[in-house]
Amino acid sequence: MTQTQPTDHIDNMLHETRVIEPPADFVARARVSREEYDRRYRQSLDDPDAFWTGVASELTWTQPWSQVLDWQEPHARWFVGGQTNLAYNALDRNVERGLGNKRAFIWEGEDGEVRTYTYAELLGEVKRAANALLDLGVTVGDRVTLYLPLVPEAAIAMLACARIGAVHSVVFGGFSVSALSDRINDASSKLLITADAGQRRGGLVNLKANADEAAKSTPTLEHILVVCRAGCDVEMQPDRDVWWHEALAGAGEEHEAAALDSEHPLFVLYTSGSTGKPKGVLHTTGGYMVGTYLTTGTVFDLREDDIFWCTADVGWITGHSYSVYGPLLNGATTVLYEGAPNHPDWGRFWEVVQKHRVTILYTAPTAIRSFMRQGDAIPAQYDLSSLRLLGSVGEPINPEAWMWYARVIGGGRCPVVDTWWQTETGSIMLTTLPGAHASKPGSAGLPMFGIELAIMTHDGQELGPDDGGLLVIKRPWPSMLRTVYGDDERYRKTYWGEIPHVYFAGDGARRDADGYVTVVGRVDDVLNVSGHRLGTMEIESALVAHPSVAEAAVVGRPDEVKGECVVAFVLPQGGQTVEPHELRAYVTREIGALARPDAIIIADALPKTRSGKIMRRFLRQIAAGQPIQGDTSTLEDPSVLERLAETPAV
Ligand code: WT7
Repeated sequence: MTQTQPTDHIDNMLHETRVIEPPADFVARARVSREEYDRRYRQSLDDPDAFWTGVASELTWTQPWSQVLDWQEPHARWFVGGQTNLAYNALDRNVERGLGNKRAFIWEGEDGEVRTYTYAELLGEVKRAANALLDLGVTVGDRVTLYLPLVPEAAIAMLACARIGAVHSVVFGGFSVSALSDRINDASSKLLITADAGQRRGGLVNLKANADEAAKSTPTLEHILVVCRAGCDVEMQPDRDVWWHEALAGAGEEHEAAALDSEHPLFVLYTSGSTGKPKGVLHTTGGYMVGTYLTTGTVFDLREDDIFWCTADVGWITGHSYSVYGPLLNGATTVLYEGAPNHPDWGRFWEVVQKHRVTILYTAPTAIRSFMRQGDAIPAQYDLSSLRLLGSVGEPINPEAWMWYARVIGGGRCPVVDTWWQTETGSIMLTTLPGAHASKPGSAGLPMFGIELAIMTHDGQELGPDDGGLLVIKRPWPSMLRTVYGDDERYRKTYWGEIPHVYFAGDGARRDADGYVTVVGRVDDVLNVSGHRLGTMEIESALVAHPSVAEAAVVGRPDEVKGECVVAFVLPQGGQTVEPHELRAYVTREIGALARPDAIIIADALPKTRSGKIMRRFLRQIAAGQPIQGDTSTLEDPSVLERLAETPAV
């Protein structure tokens, strides 16, 4: 099942040799110098207890830990016996150290409406929200699902959960009704927090209507809390549905953050794997807090007056760690922007940068490539001189896009950090530090403090410089996932069972003689479409659920903008005709628009081995328009390949 699948732009990276030194003035002021990185990295591996004690002690604990790490492979407990509260550290602690009047969030809606929250104001809102949740019967350990647009209430609800020890599960607002109800049921959530509607590209996304539909099959849900975002008409079911603003208005102002065990569950976030069912990645309080606190401060060289903008939605891990928790733990000012990068036009992001004097921008390669396509003239119309540092995340960035980002958006004066990590890792694992390291475009760089990694063969042999293999992490780190919610066996198998005694990331990578790691992409049946993870099996299950489809196989095809796009091979049910537009609409309804196939190939047979296994390797070649390579003799009927290659996609 595990095989590397290099794509075209990754091939280009193999020939990339540029080394770009960080600008001298950036280096002169940087929080972490080259020497400092070397010293701290060495300490983090040689004396991890001392290293992590140092970092964790910068935050407030109501009870100190008695042991830094308890590792019973594959289960880690960090800061054992310690008690703390993440929301306290993100808010109260900052107010207590004099940042009460500093802006925590600058939120801008798609329509240009701006709302700001100081640390003191945000704390006040979170306290009220915490009381509102308690009033609705949510108690410590209960699960709460969030299905919201990127409005301040999303972050407030997350922090309120963290404050009372409820476990949040954020479901991206672009997911479908059935994706939502599956996730509510998997977590047995008691409460759903949604909005009347979200605004997207000038239109409305009817979240409450979806929530109502989902709630027909979610027996554990007791209440739905509804944020009024769009002001549109929604049906409110008496006894079940409550308006957010009314609940908060009726809630008490005072709330003391609950003292929670370091290993108290903080959140579940669903992500796609190589089976049809998404995994609920579980993160816990203390370790996740320490990991996001450390990486936000050091990777982004964060200082007092920065305006930090991570463009991710809170529905993804990037939004959790670098729009909400990491920046707040550092007392930073963060921009939250509700809309799409191209509405009403492709200048929208640059308008936000100019208007709020953003100093650090963290976005995805797919967005960068889309901007690049629109040309240099659009960003040139805006004043981007406030920017001092740029970040990239979510998928490999091709050197061309890296160079464009640095030159056109960064004006040649901003370092670019390419950060590799995952929903499971909780925080950044691989990057360069902007004032310490030269960049090699296309290569994420070096391990963060405490991260010991290796490139291995499938049977656990460590590979030397420049050999391609599997990316693994050799020891536990504080912000690692603790398990797959409700399925510890899957956790063991997926992450610690592929190669003995190491964490298997699911990515292919190689490391050069300087230690720089280049991540080339997934080695499992997971696609990365515009920086979003999608399981091929998930899309296949959706397709075969359609009455006109007998069988389906989904593969990725390299795409200039999205990184990868979805190609579906579909076998019609005897005598039926498959309507491509109907299938696309069906997948959108079943999973969400992000899983919509870009190309559909209607087939009369799929390439299978005699034992009935679909050979996706050949389908990938056909989808990419490449000649068939490899041994076709194990196929039941090799002539299928030629017929497929000649069938035009619809
Ligand atoms: C997968 C994780 C946590 C970031 C948001 C995505 C790919 C992520 C990079 C990068 C190359 C990257 C990997 C990884 N990926 N960042 N800088 N360079 N690949 O989180 O949805 O959990 O996806 O995204 O394939 O395994 P995610």
